[in-house]
Amino acid sequence: MSVADVRREDGRQPDSIPVDATGMCGACMVPVTIAGKMVRKHACVDGPELASHIIDWDKFLPRFNQFKAQEQKSRVLHGFA
Ligand code: FES
Repeated sequence: MSVADVRREDGRQPDSIPVDATGMCGACMVPVTIAGKMVRKHACVDGPELASHIIDWDKFLPRFNQFKAQEQKSRVLHGFA
């Protein structure tokens, strides 16, 4: 059973973090598949919560590691690592 299945059963859904909340910056973009077609949803205008079973997790999850190197460098620079 996947996380999406668990969340579908209990009604909770994952969300993405909005930045400007206008639908313009794309920071909260979540790729979903609707009727076999990839569609971009934005948590700020289409959410804040989206149905987890339609999210394309292979495209969505790598976004969270996009700035990992810079985040680690910042932690070291500011004494948190
Ligand atoms: S917060 Fe910028 S598009 Fe949603």
